[in-house]
Amino acid sequence: MNVPKKMRLLLFLVSQMLIFALVFHVYDHNVHSKSTQEEPKPVHVLVLSSWRSGSSFIGELFGQHPDVFYLMEPAWHVWMTFTQSTARSLHMAVRDLLRAVFLCDMSVFDAYMKPGPRSQSSLFQWEDSRALCSPPACSLFPRGKIIPKAHCKLLCSRQPFEVVEEACRSYSHVVLKEVRIFNLQSLYPLLTDPSLNLHIVHLVRDPRAVFRSRERTTGELMLDSRIVMGQHWYTLKKEDQPYYVMQIICQSQLDIYKAIQSLPKVLQQRYLLLRYEDLVRAPLAQTSRLYDYVGLKFLPHLQTWVYNITRGKGMGDHAFHTSARDALNVSQAWRWSLPYEKVSRLQNICGDTMKWLGYRYVRSEQDQRNLSLDFLSTWNFPEQVFQNGGNSVPTSYHS
Ligand SMILES: *[C@@H]1O[C@H](CO)[C@@H](O)[C@H](O)[C@H]1NC(C)=O
Ligand SMILES: *[C@@H]1O[C@H](CO)[C@@H](O)[C@H](O)[C@H]1NC(C)=O
Ligand SMILES: *[C@@H]1O[C@H](CO)[C@@H](O)[C@H](O)[C@H]1NC(C)=O
Repeated sequence: MNVPKKMRLLLFLVSQMLIFALVFHVYDHNVHSKSTQEEPKPVHVLVLSSWRSGSSFIGELFGQHPDVFYLMEPAWHVWMTFTQSTARSLHMAVRDLLRAVFLCDMSVFDAYMKPGPRSQSSLFQWEDSRALCSPPACSLFPRGKIIPKAHCKLLCSRQPFEVVEEACRSYSHVVLKEVRIFNLQSLYPLLTDPSLNLHIVHLVRDPRAVFRSRERTTGELMLDSRIVMGQHWYTLKKEDQPYYVMQIICQSQLDIYKAIQSLPKVLQQRYLLLRYEDLVRAPLAQTSRLYDYVGLKFLPHLQTWVYNITRGKGMGDHAFHTSARDALNVSQAWRWSLPYEKVSRLQNICGDTMKWLGYRYVRSEQDQRNLSLDFLSTWNFPEQVFQNGGNSVPTSYHS
């Protein structure tokens, strides 16, 4: 009686070890699937930012890449369906929408669009997606070329909505840009979701520059601002509202940044922080860093294109908004166009965020206007944990 019992125990232990080995093997296999022969899983990239922070430009950098299916702010549809709601109560709907879109399930938009026939132009800013301007979505432009969105808008708007899903499925990378997310917690399930391969690019910008840019687009941003403010929309004085919105934006940018640091190392590698100002100062090096991070090649025609548009030789509009002006100059516009009182008030509201992200305070109007002073700190990514597997920072990065 004794011996078989020991045998049974032994058999049990061996079987447990086998199961463990198998599970570990499968896990290991998933983690390293890039290096095996099986079909690579699509890469999902979320460009996480706020309004007026240069995210359209980053979106375009991804969107023009021939391996990328890009959509600009899909959660716009959620917010515009519930304009009386608050950012907090819409978070989960936004999260679930992003997940569906990453998996190319476009039926999720059904809840947020009018019933009846749809075309791909039912999507917010669809023409920002080169993928919706080239095959299989639209056959009028070749897939591997830079496509000006004005041309696309003119010629591809009638394509049926179904092509969006078909197009999405034909790319190795799905990139979504979103400004309507205020914490990272709601995204945790996506970071660990085995059907996703999520990478987050967190784009931040000097709050003083964001504020200035928002001031010039108040009307455009009104519905969104109202949702951001929630109940405060009704109680705050008109002149205080923009500062309150900035306070929420700054706090959320900092929360996201800090939340990442409390995650396991493996997940931290799914995150890359980018300051808009660094991109403006070294567009080619930073674009290269972005592409590298998500496994995209910086193709020669894209290099010329980035070089051109950041010098005002671009075709059409882009976040640099430069027809001839220098992007670097534009990024400093707050220095001469914002009154010092506003700058000072913003520094009080957003001080913590500025400190963490390397935006230095100005202490006087004289310093603010003195363009030979630089208020951007050189930024060393803490412990390099935000780098993808040791990819090096381009040498020109600290210029
Ligand atoms: C870049 O600019 C040059 C000179 O204006 C132009 O000939 C070229 O076609 C542009 N290339 C791209 C990819 O935008
Ligand atoms: C930047 O632009 C402003 C306004 O357009 C102009 O007054 C200023 O001279 C420019 N500065 C530089 C360094 O180009
Ligand atoms: C601007 O800053 C530089 C560098 O600190 C300084 O030498 C110069 O005197 C300043 N100019 C003015 C007008 O304050």
